[in-house]
Amino acid sequence: MCGIIGYVGYRDVVSVILSGLTNLEYRGYDSAGIAIRDDGEIKIYKTLGKLINLKNELEANRAQIHNPTSGIGHIRWATHGSPSIINAHPHTCTCGRLVVVHNGIIENYKELREKLVAKGCKFKSQTDTEVIAHLVADEFGQTKDLELAVRNSVKKLQGAYAVCVMHKDVPDLIVGARKHAPMLVGVGNGENFIASDTPALIEYTKRTIYLEDNEIAVVTKDKVKITDINGNEVAKRIEVLPWEPVALSKLGYKHFMLKEIHEQPDVIRNVLNGKLYDIEQPIILGEVKLNKEILKSLNKIQIIACGTSLHAALAGKYLIEDFSGISVEVEASSEYIYRKSTTDSSTLVIGVSQSGETADTITAIKQAKEKNAHVLIITNRPDSNMARLADSLIPLNAGIEVSVAATKSYIAQLISFYLFAIHLAEIKGSLDKGYLKNIKHELIQLPTKIEEVLSDTSVIQSCARKFSSYKNFIYIARGINLSTALEGALKLKEISYINATGYAAGELKHGPIAMLDETMPVLSILIPGGITYEKVLSNCEEAKARNAKLIALTSSTDKKLDNIFDVVIRIPQVTEILSPAITCVPLQLLAYYIAEFLGKDVDQPRNLAKSVTVE
Ligand code: M6R
Repeated sequence: MCGIIGYVGYRDVVSVILSGLTNLEYRGYDSAGIAIRDDGEIKIYKTLGKLINLKNELEANRAQIHNPTSGIGHIRWATHGSPSIINAHPHTCTCGRLVVVHNGIIENYKELREKLVAKGCKFKSQTDTEVIAHLVADEFGQTKDLELAVRNSVKKLQGAYAVCVMHKDVPDLIVGARKHAPMLVGVGNGENFIASDTPALIEYTKRTIYLEDNEIAVVTKDKVKITDINGNEVAKRIEVLPWEPVALSKLGYKHFMLKEIHEQPDVIRNVLNGKLYDIEQPIILGEVKLNKEILKSLNKIQIIACGTSLHAALAGKYLIEDFSGISVEVEASSEYIYRKSTTDSSTLVIGVSQSGETADTITAIKQAKEKNAHVLIITNRPDSNMARLADSLIPLNAGIEVSVAATKSYIAQLISFYLFAIHLAEIKGSLDKGYLKNIKHELIQLPTKIEEVLSDTSVIQSCARKFSSYKNFIYIARGINLSTALEGALKLKEISYINATGYAAGELKHGPIAMLDETMPVLSILIPGGITYEKVLSNCEEAKARNAKLIALTSSTDKKLDNIFDVVIRIPQVTEILSPAITCVPLQLLAYYIAEFLGKDVDQPRNLAKSVTVE
């Protein structure tokens, strides 16, 4: 959701900014823009739609661009004002000498805008961001110090911002500031960068400095200075990014989503690495600080998350309750933050987030911390804001996930919940040791079983082809795979724009059955050996009696199923409790192939952003 890169240095400024924006593209956006300092002037180029349009615009204006020495770029996901060239960033002050790019939302922008208009400022866009340009220009007019002008201005802003500012009269200097939106500096030799996320920098430097809320960075080619909101210099640690640029390559796959689905066996191995290496030994979760004492006083666990992470949380609830007997509530972060919650100091609050930057979840976690709850964060970004709030942490180690539709981070979240639930059971002694050993053994086998699923996707592809013209789908399951049904339906919705709804299979006859006819395929998850198989099968028969087309996702080898179902997608044998880690994979593939057959923009679906950093 929006992306920023700023650069001062010896390289081709336009190329650095474009490649930085390209590496942020996955976040989702509707317009793009760049401001460069060239021939002592600030030159601005903005376009609607994909980055290719901005590239073409810059190419078309090549003769006017000579030797830029610094610049800022932005991709915008519209919040205030429709997607348009006028609303695209960078925004300028009235005289056009100052330029601003911004991620986040300025909540008091209307009030600020009125005051600035009264002072004579001429607004061009409908955005909240433009007030920042006029505000800083106004301050700069008085102080002639860009850093001070930014500091004085951000003190007047309410809401969330990661902001970068350049001024024509202050050559090759970028001022960045942040509050409730990520921003970091990339440190180079004879060049420096500023960005909203690490992928923007990784091609050029792995040395980064993360800004905290209310900090201000002044970046020139030779120097980076970080100060607090009062102007005191802050000594910051340079951190080295663990990722290589290759993480941002499709490695021959048509889409990042397909590549990421195929990475899942290795992702599981990575999550297990160092935590489960011997089934005879207890699980090791180094950064989880829950000892027997804390557990004894624990009377409740609450899991807070959004979207796909919320579905992993649902599976987590099932696992934790089953393995440890501790009662677990799961709630969407956006709901948690607007009601009187029962969180207290004897609650363990688990925040689950791929990005670690989801605004609703961050707010929820902050509220939980105010109530003195112990906060455990499960995230793919140990460098994120959420991770910084954690008392305990489980890093997912899934590697950067580029496709907007979460896949490998979901499986890493599931595996983390298996490990955590076993860890609790081991501390509490709540499960039979033999049973735990079997579960651990099966966990270790999971990557090989998923490799089997990925080695032959022909049935899934033909199912996708057969059903790609349907406008509605129902996904059903019971027990722990209800989370898989919800997640499978979400994947289909997100990337194919087909209406798909997940239901607890037993709920079908309480309402949704009214929708069933030959136009409404029903996909069901059937894992034999467990407690739900026969029940779900009966629900499928009920659907068939209403002429619904049936798709089974099953580990059963029973040939009878081929007579009942229109398509049977088979997966390897797996214990029901562990099956979500396998059943999610064919559903990701089914969504992928349907979207691909329909010619959709799989990696960057319309209206969606990879990381939702506004409420
Ligand atoms: O980064 P998070 O896991 O906190 O993101 C939560 C949701 O925005 C995210 O899962 C979203 O639903 C994805 N598009 C799922 O594919």
